Amino acid sequence: MARLLIVSNRIALPGEQAARAGGLAVAIREALRKYGGIWIGWSGETVEEAEDELRIQGSGSGRISVATLDLTKEEQELYYAGFANSVLWPLCHYRVGLMDFQRSYYTGYMAVNDRFAAAVARIAQPDDIIWVHDYHFLPLAAALRRRGLKNRIGFFLHIPFPAPEVLRVVPFHEKLVADMCDYDLLGFQTASDERAFCDFIRHDARGVVGEDRSVTAFGRVTRTGVYPVGIETERFALLAIAAELGPETKRLVQSLTGRKMVIGVDRLDYSKGLPLRFDAYSSLLANHPQHRAKVVMMQIAPTSRNEVRQYRALRRELDQLAGRINARYAEFDWAPLRYLNRGFSRNTLAGFYRHAHVGLVTPLRDGMNLVAKEFVAAQDPDNPGVLVLSRFAGAVDELCDGAKLVNPFDVDGVGEAMHEALIMPLEERKERYETMIKVLQANTINDWYERFLAALRGAN
Ligand code: ADP
Ligand code: F6P
Repeated sequence: MARLLIVSNRIALPGEQAARAGGLAVAIREALRKYGGIWIGWSGETVEEAEDELRIQGSGSGRISVATLDLTKEEQELYYAGFANSVLWPLCHYRVGLMDFQRSYYTGYMAVNDRFAAAVARIAQPDDIIWVHDYHFLPLAAALRRRGLKNRIGFFLHIPFPAPEVLRVVPFHEKLVADMCDYDLLGFQTASDERAFCDFIRHDARGVVGEDRSVTAFGRVTRTGVYPVGIETERFALLAIAAELGPETKRLVQSLTGRKMVIGVDRLDYSKGLPLRFDAYSSLLANHPQHRAKVVMMQIAPTSRNEVRQYRALRRELDQLAGRINARYAEFDWAPLRYLNRGFSRNTLAGFYRHAHVGLVTPLRDGMNLVAKEFVAAQDPDNPGVLVLSRFAGAVDELCDGAKLVNPFDVDGVGEAMHEALIMPLEERKERYETMIKVLQANTINDWYERFLAALRGAN
């Protein structure tokens, strides 16, 4: 039977206790748990001299093998911190001003793609299906094709695909898009990401986009599709029910002494809109003083990509903002903001979500945002919390009818939405929850996985 090879930069390593703070690793791990396969990626280690052979190990679950490569320090700087996270990441999140381009980043990025391609080519069998993930590996299929691989190769982009005006800012963007056309299937999170890609194909590449979603450009033919990533809805709900009785949730409840809780859970990333979110909370406390000493905001934000300057600057900014909010509003027996730079197990997070009255998900731009979905799945159907959701998260396409939508740039507007969420009557909360949970039950992580792979198998 054909094997499935999954390639992504970040992988969940065997035995890892804490959940990786990142949607990609969570999504793939959940899917592989059911279906099995070989998961290839970066070990997370940087070494003086990297081996070219993949290090293969079982995951412990029996169904998943994990195969890793180390990166050299230079590769990590050029490919990961450089082109992937200082060029593509800000661009795809519409933060042109944060882009820091250097030619060596691009060269390093292409070289690491080539090294991964060589490693994958060494283990791939002719009927293996290869599924590549995210912006770290846009040119991987092209590098595999150069090595003669004729396998089905699919690609899924977990982050937004930018409009052509923004994409054009990246030097070598045309070559990157041309290389993307070497995949047999290109999957996007939302219709607007797919549209942005097709716009570029039509107008910049002078290619043809067919009604059947075939794309002919750069002398190649590929296909596109929209596959919004979901979660294990039922399983997460059960986790939350169990976690409610667990020691962490109990300690949390005790510490709140009857106050309502607003929760935010995000990697510490400038795409997540955290400084504006803190300002919005300040606005709530300033404009609706009745919530003072009655509400606590808990923001969980594990550090991420510390090797990139902009991330370190964001951390400093948030430390200051958090300090200022507490200094301004705290009482001797109430700290308005709890700000934690650390990860938690999924169980613990599920319990925290369930106990929260408001889930704040206010990215300035996000491919999907699984936290929004996890928050909804964790709620008690008889007394659900309210999701306050940014219009610029991919999840809005599915959750727009039940969430309270906000523009994260409108600080007072988000403060107002928090106020309305905190005082929302039970009937409305239930209605909103029911609308959203139905959507999440209809598109789980298994649906994402099966729909993508069925399309890839059928692509020609
Ligand atoms: P991104 O992929 O940009 O980080 P998502 O919201 O799509 O954003 O995915 C984040 C994933 O990481 C979610 O599954 C979430 O539960 C998990 N996560 C986020 N923060 C933490 C944390 N502090 N501890 C453990 N898991 C976390
Ligand atoms: O889905 C977005 C994403 O960038 C993933 O590709 C990545 O694994 C995750 O966020 C966390 O980032 P990193 O792998 O850089 O720690």
